[in-house]
Amino acid sequence: MSFDRKIKIAPSILSADFADFGREIRAVEDQGADWVHVDVMDGHFVPNITFGPPAVAAFRKHVSTVMDVHLMIAPVDPYIDAFAKAGADIITAHVEAGPHIHRTLQAIRGAGARAGVALNPGTPAEAVEHLLDLADLVCVMTVNPGFGGQKFIDMTDKVRRLRAMIGDRPVHIEIDGGVDPTTAPRLAEAGADVLVAGSAVFRGGSVSNSAPYGENIRAIRAAAEAALA
Ligand code: DX5
Ligand code: ZN
Repeated sequence: MSFDRKIKIAPSILSADFADFGREIRAVEDQGADWVHVDVMDGHFVPNITFGPPAVAAFRKHVSTVMDVHLMIAPVDPYIDAFAKAGADIITAHVEAGPHIHRTLQAIRGAGARAGVALNPGTPAEAVEHLLDLADLVCVMTVNPGFGGQKFIDMTDKVRRLRAMIGDRPVHIEIDGGVDPTTAPRLAEAGADVLVAGSAVFRGGSVSNSAPYGENIRAIRAAAEAALA
């Protein structure tokens, strides 16, 4: 996994058919996804439950790009090794999920994965200021985490501040929540390079009719890249 700031589209399989993850993952990759975003929820840190390490290990067999695992769980530390063993390329933990995010990021890298740190909409950019040398990715939530298909909360100013704070460091800025062709341009322009999208990728398609996934991915990418031109 080499570092670049090109726009990357990361479909969230939270919007996929939960009875058919293998084919859904292969369908979005065939249709141009750069990464596959996996949302892990515990019914405690967020008010929804999705899947744990055995399911993530099963997804891994179908991912040929980058498996980006977003942990919305508290505590995080007891599960890091299990998600690393499940094959996560990137493991992202929330600043708000515990008192020791610095230690958590060290543990993620220690387990052999890239380390991501996520910020809820109410958390300022400055919360990661002293973590940037320990992180490979900062995830800016543009919804309150827990569900797909929520209304976008504009965090463009936060992205701009983060981009300035990151400077030359090889740290991705990822946006998660309500990304579509109308919201992507301002985020790309502010410095985001990874755009997670659930409902805006999976809408209109299915595993047996996956062309709409490709149209949706291309529409988000084109809108973001146009803002950089
Ligand atoms: C929200 C998840 C997101 C979600 C995004 O808690 O972290 O990854 O799937 O879904 P959309 O793109 O539909 O807002
Ligand atoms: Zn997510």
